[in-house]
Amino acid sequence: MLSYFDNNATTRVAPEAADAVGECLREYWGNPSSPHGFGSRVGRLMDEARSGVAELMGVSPREVVFTSGGTESINAAIASAVRMQPGKRHVVTSAVEHSAVMNCCRQLERRGYRVTWLPVDGEGRLEAAQVEESIGEETALVSVMHANNETGVIFPVEEIAAVCRRRKAWLHVDAVQAAGKMPIELGRWGVDMASVSGHKLHGPKGTGALYIRSGIPFEPWVVGGHQERGRRGGTENVAGIVGFGRAARLALERLPAMAARVRGMRDEIERRIRESVAGVARNGAREPRLPNTVNLSFAGVDSEAMVMMLDEAGICVSSGSACTTGSTAPSHVLTAMGISAERARSSLRLSLSVETTEAEVEHLMRHLPRIVEKLRDWSPARWAERAAAGSWAGGGAR
Ligand SMILES: Cc1ncc(COP(=O)(O)O)c(C=O)c1O
Repeated sequence: MLSYFDNNATTRVAPEAADAVGECLREYWGNPSSPHGFGSRVGRLMDEARSGVAELMGVSPREVVFTSGGTESINAAIASAVRMQPGKRHVVTSAVEHSAVMNCCRQLERRGYRVTWLPVDGEGRLEAAQVEESIGEETALVSVMHANNETGVIFPVEEIAAVCRRRKAWLHVDAVQAAGKMPIELGRWGVDMASVSGHKLHGPKGTGALYIRSGIPFEPWVVGGHQERGRRGGTENVAGIVGFGRAARLALERLPAMAARVRGMRDEIERRIRESVAGVARNGAREPRLPNTVNLSFAGVDSEAMVMMLDEAGICVSSGSACTTGSTAPSHVLTAMGISAERARSSLRLSLSVETTEAEVEHLMRHLPRIVEKLRDWSPARWAERAAAGSWAGGGAR
């Protein structure tokens, strides 16, 4: 049995979205820019997908540009905001952003821009007042995430947008983890740009969207033909876009299930782990938090070992975000929250989806407490205790 608790890394493509992709590849393979009826039909499928994605983001379809994913949308938004305001050389972001935003900002720093990296508190929270204090005449852009991929902690985007409007700074929101997991109304809140990704909400990989509020000047990042009303060149990934649109509509329909059933399962997992395993601490605020995410530290246990042993039992989880896995550095998100390197290295992220079943939860609970116990039993501290107590059998070399 495979139990999947890594939905913040990626999600399974919904069967309805996969069917839409397949049908598009087989039947509607025309070029949406073609003047003939066959091409126009494909264009209409894209219009339909654009409305679905726009509805999910709470914006108008004309404000949606399709891209290759969250990373491209983020790059395009940040690059355009600074290019369109050449006199302004200051950008504000937070210390817990995804590497896509962090590396765009680091690149700007290398080009002489001043970047303010706003700190978060011990629970991973950021206040709109911090953003307000950091904005000056020179500020071209504020770029913050809506929900954190590692902890699920939600930033007050509506309040931050109000602050940015008042102080006349543009706001880009990385809504990659929030879209499809909570209601978002980027247009009504007055957000200027926002990025979302198809594969985080049961759509295909390599699909994403950038919302550009109407009236915001924009310079394309991918330069080419007149596709996407001149905002992103290149013949569109039509099948992917159609699948993304289908997934966006499904995600919208399933928001109530996310808020109730998925949240309930996540809370049950958290409660049962805390009841059955000693020395467990939650990383990040209890609320406001995405309904599908929990990040826990297990005292004295190496999370990489936990991930591997759970994997052997057929259970997929993550230690920190997928993009930082492989590096030995503790998570920058947990570090920014003031969490020690030792506690950060013993952290596990469990992220659910609307597809998560009770059987998967039972599978997890059958194995996780046992694995933690076993790893604690193998720890050097335990060997030292046993050696001191003289409980090790035999002696000498074997
Ligand atoms: C918060 C956040 N932003 C951006 C991205 C990048 O999105 P994509 O994988 O579509 O490039 C991710 C993916 O993990 C993410 O979690």
